[in-house]
Amino acid sequence: MDFIWSCATAAYQIEGGWREDGKGLSIWDKFAHTALKIANYDNGDIACDSYHKIDEDVAILKQLKVTHYRFSISWSRILPDGTINHINDAGLNYYHRLVDALLAANIQPHITLYHWDLPQALQNVGGWENDTIVDRFKDYADLIFSRLGHKVKLWVTINEPYNVAMVGHEINDFRPGTLPYIVGHNLIKAHAEAWHIYNDKYRAEQKGMVSITINSDWSEPRNPHKQEDIDASRRLLQFYIGWFANPIYNGDYNEVMKTVVRERSIAAGLPKSRLPEFTPEEIKRIKGTYDYFGFNHYTTVLAFPVEYGNLQGAGTIVDRTWLDSGSGWLKVTPFGFRRILNFIKEEYGNPPIIITENGVSERGPKDLNDEHRSYFYEKYINQLGTFFFQVLFVFPAYLLDGVDIRGFTAWSLMDNLEWATGFSEKFGLFYVNHSDPDLPRVAKASVSAYSTIIKTHLIDALVGQHL
Ligand code: BGC
Repeated sequence: MDFIWSCATAAYQIEGGWREDGKGLSIWDKFAHTALKIANYDNGDIACDSYHKIDEDVAILKQLKVTHYRFSISWSRILPDGTINHINDAGLNYYHRLVDALLAANIQPHITLYHWDLPQALQNVGGWENDTIVDRFKDYADLIFSRLGHKVKLWVTINEPYNVAMVGHEINDFRPGTLPYIVGHNLIKAHAEAWHIYNDKYRAEQKGMVSITINSDWSEPRNPHKQEDIDASRRLLQFYIGWFANPIYNGDYNEVMKTVVRERSIAAGLPKSRLPEFTPEEIKRIKGTYDYFGFNHYTTVLAFPVEYGNLQGAGTIVDRTWLDSGSGWLKVTPFGFRRILNFIKEEYGNPPIIITENGVSERGPKDLNDEHRSYFYEKYINQLGTFFFQVLFVFPAYLLDGVDIRGFTAWSLMDNLEWATGFSEKFGLFYVNHSDPDLPRVAKASVSAYSTIIKTHLIDALVGQHL
């Protein structure tokens, strides 16, 4: 397989058309229409209007020279009440037209089935907290594979289960920590069932690849000489990347998580651990449900132990010398990228990795001269170093660290609705002027930087600029 050079978006962040052609409402439609939830009262009703701008979107993808485009399907556009009782063909048609236009431009689609916009009808019966969601997701995945799978070879089941469980059900809710674990449990099972459906019914004919996309920061000890800080940083990783990766790549929750959650649950007076258990059959069914390791990565933190207050008993700070971005949580830390990739290789049996998101933001008025973004991509991509030999065919398949990188995806194609922070936090390679009703996409300087990287595969990796 040739190296994947891609960029990404997600349905709610770009599509708009929130009630068009029979689309049902999603939890984000509802959230965005609730007072004070999204900065500046922004919402995704129109967003970048991608629902009506297939040609424009494909044109800018061509300008970038990407080989792939990662986007997500809005579940409630296809299944307005979340179930296959009613299939909205008009909604499906949008994705058919998009996929056809991409293929005509020689760009391969990389489709995410779930990027956070759950049908509101399913939320009304408990959403990810209700284990019937596993079958609903399986039905939805089955339908999409059957309708689009003859044209699409690369799939992501669920984007960032950690954020669905933690941001959606712990941080925003301020409820005690049982919920995120139940949500996480159902997310893992739902992913596994979608993978099995593909494997059993579609793989032989469609010959595609299906995985989940897991996100994680890298974490370093605040003080590298202090054992408690070293332990806290390991804990953080096991509660972040390990929460979802361990069941899928190794089988079952990791021991660190099992021990810490059990101890904390007992200490809180509960009769048993808040972390649900998988049965031996479930462990077997979940283990190995991947065709690659889909990985989103942005930043690094420094960890130290805390007694109370969060799930994993680890707090984080950042180094004040690290460069800032337009997002409070995102510091420019390329060195952590290589380290976490090596962690994946060591912990999860050296799987083939596709970076499904990486990128940086800015705030403020229109500024097309986004040198900070070109810098970010050059530095982060340089950390991949390992694979350039492979794509250049200079030393076929020789990998510096032995990390098996198969693709890189920039987040994001264009400025879009950055969830609760609205349009003010901009991750795009292309600028979108939201006060112009035509929503033109205008290239920032980083477009040429990224397409140059794609063209040349950043040769300076070959001269050993690795940290
Ligand atoms: C998400 C995107 C989001 C990006 C920047 C990722 O966690 O998948 O939807 O826009 O980060 O915050």
